[in-house]
Amino acid sequence: MEAHFTEWLNLSIRWVHMIVGIAWIGASFYFVWLENNLDRRNPRDGLSGDLWAIHGGGIYHLEKYKLAPPKMPENLHWFKWEAYSTWLSGVALLLVVYYLNPSLYLLKPGVDLAPSAAIAIGLGSIVASYLIYHLLCDSPLGKRPALLGAVLFVTIIAAAYGFSQIFSGRAAYIHVGAIIGSIMVGNVFFTIMPAQRALVKAIETHTTPDPSLPAKGLLRSRHNNYFTLPVLFIMISNHFPSTYGSPYNWLILAGIAVLAVLVRHYFNTRHNSQRFAWALPAAALGMVCLAYVTKPTPHTPATAAQAQPPAIASAATAEQAASAQPAEPAATPPTDTVDFAQVEQVIHTRCSVCHSANPTSPLFSAAPAGFMLDTPEQMQTQAAKIQAQAVASQIMPLGNITQMTQDERDLIGRWIAQGAHIAR
Ligand code: HEC
Repeated sequence: MEAHFTEWLNLSIRWVHMIVGIAWIGASFYFVWLENNLDRRNPRDGLSGDLWAIHGGGIYHLEKYKLAPPKMPENLHWFKWEAYSTWLSGVALLLVVYYLNPSLYLLKPGVDLAPSAAIAIGLGSIVASYLIYHLLCDSPLGKRPALLGAVLFVTIIAAAYGFSQIFSGRAAYIHVGAIIGSIMVGNVFFTIMPAQRALVKAIETHTTPDPSLPAKGLLRSRHNNYFTLPVLFIMISNHFPSTYGSPYNWLILAGIAVLAVLVRHYFNTRHNSQRFAWALPAAALGMVCLAYVTKPTPHTPATAAQAQPPAIASAATAEQAASAQPAEPAATPPTDTVDFAQVEQVIHTRCSVCHSANPTSPLFSAAPAGFMLDTPEQMQTQAAKIQAQAVASQIMPLGNITQMTQDERDLIGRWIAQGAHIAR
């Protein structure tokens, strides 16, 4: 029952997170577009430009002031709750999905770390990252945006690498997303909003605003702009095990982030130059390359090479080969046709506690992702997915909670390589 309600809690928060996230990123995309498309020819006095647009059957006329209108309007809309609510719902989601079941979702299988320590590292690194980022921006590096960008990129990828050593692939990715998202919201909360408040106050009291404030705000909003596409990728990456499930997941993330920043750069600059038009085909090509480098290798079980005795094997080498294989009742000599009964047994013990019409695991009230492995037919039709998640990458069993061994993975891999036959 509890698992059922946690699932609905997860669903509700995720839905809210997505809605407010769209409102936030959508508004920020819109304002970047607006800024880039203002008609700056012969602006009216005090304006830096204007723009006419038609949307939803109405015609709009927007004007941007150089500084402010002669009299501040009664209602000035501030865009902030979109960002704050995205962060709040994101933190809630992190708690419900990852910190409520740390051994299942957060920890990398085989890492000897107490769940509470892992949670502390996760939360601590989010806070620490914002502080480091803040200091970097306020340091002399802040005056050299390109260098600062490169330093930030390397630091974030280093964090991804660090996370990938102790967290499951999904958790590593989501923590990078949480770091970047928190930096973005921190920018709104700690820099952009105060700068805007100071500006409005200065206008109202007819004093000169501190000129350093808008510049700071500008650097931070530029960062936010470039962060959006990588963050959006991380948010959907959960559905793509060939990214986070790879042992090189941090490198894949780095590759995708570079492509995303390139694409964003093109969209930021295309209003006055097509100099970066190559970025789109280059990014598309980059995705094709990533698809190739992350392609699962044809199944070559680690034990096959060791255990395959040469044609005329001496008794000694055969023995060595045999002893090189850890004693594992489920494994058969790799050259033989795999006995399906053994495969079925492995899947039932390692997978069906969760992936069943009636899961016995207390953590799930229904088969996760609707994916069931109760019958031989289900095992056969789902062979490709089993291969992807439990053999090629080892993201299943989740948290390796059922302690599946490498030999068992190899056995399943061989069974699939031999055609996933279920006849006995
Ligand atoms: C502790 C419970 C648990 C165990 C044990 C487990 N899984 Fe999973 N599995 C999950 C969860 C939860 C998901 C959904 C992941 C998500 O949220 O995207 C999942 C998703 C999957 C998917 C993706 C299904 C889809 O259509 O998206 C496959 C394939 C899979 N598991 C295979 C396996 C195999 C094979 C085993 C055994 C070797 C296994 N799992 C063991 C919990 C488990």
